Amino acid sequence: MNTEIVTIEEKNIDDLAKENLQRAGNIIRNGGLVAFPTETVYGLGGDALQPESSRKIYAAKGRPSDNPLIVHVADMESVSEIVTAVPDEAQKLADAFWPGPLTMIMNKNDRVPYETTGGLDTVAIRMPNNRIALELIKRSGGFIAAPSANTSGRPSPTLARYCVEDLMGKIEMIIDGGQVGIGLESTIVDLTGERPMILRPGYITVEMLRDVLGAVDIDRTIIAPDSGVRPKAPGMKYRHYAPKGVLTIVEGPSDKVAEYINTKALEAADQGKRVGVIGTESTKELYRADVVKSVGDRNDENTIAHELFKVLREFDDENIEVMFSESFDDSGIGQAIMNRLLKAAGHCVIRL
Ligand code: TXA
Ligand code: MG
Repeated sequence: MNTEIVTIEEKNIDDLAKENLQRAGNIIRNGGLVAFPTETVYGLGGDALQPESSRKIYAAKGRPSDNPLIVHVADMESVSEIVTAVPDEAQKLADAFWPGPLTMIMNKNDRVPYETTGGLDTVAIRMPNNRIALELIKRSGGFIAAPSANTSGRPSPTLARYCVEDLMGKIEMIIDGGQVGIGLESTIVDLTGERPMILRPGYITVEMLRDVLGAVDIDRTIIAPDSGVRPKAPGMKYRHYAPKGVLTIVEGPSDKVAEYINTKALEAADQGKRVGVIGTESTKELYRADVVKSVGDRNDENTIAHELFKVLREFDDENIEVMFSESFDDSGIGQAIMNRLLKAAGHCVIRL
């Protein structure tokens, strides 16, 4: 298949951009697939109400079909069209955080095919805060099913070039809207249980949700991932975000961490391996390895969220075989950062 790449600037949706968005919308209406930017990561979009489109999404990603997709909408009315009832909490959270990096799970109605929900009677819904995404949703029929636009298991794409890397020749179009703003996927909150429960941490933190709703639980598999309990979001059970090299997280005082990593890096280099280190602005000078990258500034963890997946992909591009990363605080956005980093490392952590 020939994959067309178009560039659209979010801040300048001119006539040409609108024309391209119209064509992209028609591709989706006609059952095709388009990768597009959102504020979190790039999505791989198809019509959420056509079973065949969802099948194509799973095939293009190489994703297990029991892993449900998020339905992206551009307005609140669309939500009521695909659920049995809009819970009060959903309205409150939408008022507070939509459009934005929050996905809510509700009970689906018959319009949503089981192909889209991986066989579940619930549906995940999100209104993204990106003009390109919103304009595309409006032009494509109103309901875009979109997982992150990566090959299953690889880090989610935060730049169009990574969609090209993973999906070229497999989908009809890729919209290049530049590097995304947040860099980690949306927070997922399940509203179908007795109490709202976070199934995947993201930019919208548990504190922010509690401010609006009061009590909010956290799926304990996020906190204790090795407990053997099945995560409630099917996708959270898969090894994810995996770089090609073997990644180890090293936790402790920064001088000790640097000493440990430098020793291990030297050992690996002696065995002929290419070694990479993920440090931060304040520590990157401390490391000796083939490639040392700063993932951001500890004083502003949003910078780390923004760069994490990109840095993991860059290590792949540099053929790094052994990688070490510093550990990060588990509060605020740090919970999402550590959730992704731990998955990328297959939960391999050294505590000093
Ligand atoms: O930020 C995001 O959410 C991005 C952008 C593109 O919007 N999308 C994204 O989709 O991360 P994906 O498919 O990579 O992750 C969706 C997650 C999976 O872990 C899936 O299992 C979970 O959402 N999920 C979807 N529907 C669900 C449902 N009905 N019940 C429980 N978990 C669900
Ligand atoms: Mg994903």
